[in-house]
Amino acid sequence: MNPTDTISDRAKAIMESPMRADLEVYFDALENLYHPSKNPQGAFPLNMAENTLGWNLLKSKIQQIQENEIVPDWASKYGNTLGVDSFRETVAQFLSTFLIGCPIQQEHLAFSSGLTSVIDLSVFLLANEGDTAVFPAPAYPVYKNDIGAIPGIKRFDLQTHDTIDELSAGIPLDEKSLRQALKTLEESGERFKILVLTHPDNPTGAVYSDKQLTLIADWCIDHRIHLVVNEIYGCSLIDTNHPAIAGDYPAQVSFRSFGNIMAAYKSPYLHLWYSFSKDFGISGFRVGLVHSYNEAFLNAYANANLTHSVSNYTQWILQCLLEDHDFIADYLRQYQKELTACYVMVVELLKKHQIPYVPSRGSLFVWIDLSDWLEENTDIGQEALWLDIYHATGVLLTPGEGFGHRQKGHFRLVISYHIPSHLRVALQRLDDYLQKTVRTKD
Ligand SMILES: Cc1ncc(COP(=O)(O)O)c(C=O)c1O
Repeated sequence: MNPTDTISDRAKAIMESPMRADLEVYFDALENLYHPSKNPQGAFPLNMAENTLGWNLLKSKIQQIQENEIVPDWASKYGNTLGVDSFRETVAQFLSTFLIGCPIQQEHLAFSSGLTSVIDLSVFLLANEGDTAVFPAPAYPVYKNDIGAIPGIKRFDLQTHDTIDELSAGIPLDEKSLRQALKTLEESGERFKILVLTHPDNPTGAVYSDKQLTLIADWCIDHRIHLVVNEIYGCSLIDTNHPAIAGDYPAQVSFRSFGNIMAAYKSPYLHLWYSFSKDFGISGFRVGLVHSYNEAFLNAYANANLTHSVSNYTQWILQCLLEDHDFIADYLRQYQKELTACYVMVVELLKKHQIPYVPSRGSLFVWIDLSDWLEENTDIGQEALWLDIYHATGVLLTPGEGFGHRQKGHFRLVISYHIPSHLRVALQRLDDYLQKTVRTKD
């Protein structure tokens, strides 16, 4: 018997749909990770959105909590599937203070095991199987599986621009492009049910202005389309006033959480996603959340979330950590300083080689255009360049494949995977490669 006959049709489809294109090479790089004394020739997996910059600070704080605090009895029991009340209260205060900037209430929050679970469950509850969610391209490749594998929602990549220099003042998403997407989808018999924005964006690091978000929210509410803004990188902000990069930001657009617009509108069509995986570099804790004023959605979420809920022990540790606002303020200050330092290092290399990039305002990335080095302007050419860089330098970028943008030769570089002194070695290797390798467009 064919082993695939033993599984469901859904399982067969999922088997055929790998989560992302770079996993195999990533595991190869992990086997050979760079270390200055133990493995100086090792690899740099700058493809995976991990953040190690603040871990030492967090680790000692978490160790202190485990040594000094008494584990509450609720940590060992079942609890509210949306999250334990005291934890939800602590996170509501954290979000109000450090992300959103206006008060939000715990009853408008639901937690699942990582944002991946939140995405899966949110779209499952907001749309029907076969409906479409729209993402301005380029967008996080894994959204496709998050919304597709179990909820059965389709991904539509909306092209808002051709070249990356069109993104220097932000993502040009407006009413016209949304109307066009709606028309295209309706003409092909598809239902546009959800619009997802990542703010700050993965991979471009761009942010949406308040005015733009308000216009988009109005349009979505008018068309009964759910607008979800993913602020997973909301505290990973670059200091755009840093003298080495300040000239890259002529337009005064700074990050302001969508939570403010939600608080003013309280519409059932507006939602916000957040997770502690990135800003706090604790992807292994698996804690994500949705913030929404849609009561029916949250009631359904409570009933469906038992399969996705966060361990109470993890909620307890995180609660202790987030209660200490002085610590969090200090952590975020130091983290953003280090993130900016890494970003500046990368940008200096890009400037040296006149490589186009999107000036980032936040996130863990720089989105760069290496199309001048492509042998051929195709997916195959893009993959060949990606592997050539990896084999020659040990530096693994994220290839553009899966981000949904039509241009070839764009790559994402993660600035926070390594501490600055290690990142410097990776950049030196890239520098040597770029000097030696002839641009095909020269
Ligand atoms: C935009 C975006 N959303 C969601 C996730 C997944 O988050 P989590 O680790 O909390 O599941 C990622 C991880 O890279 C991401 O970049």
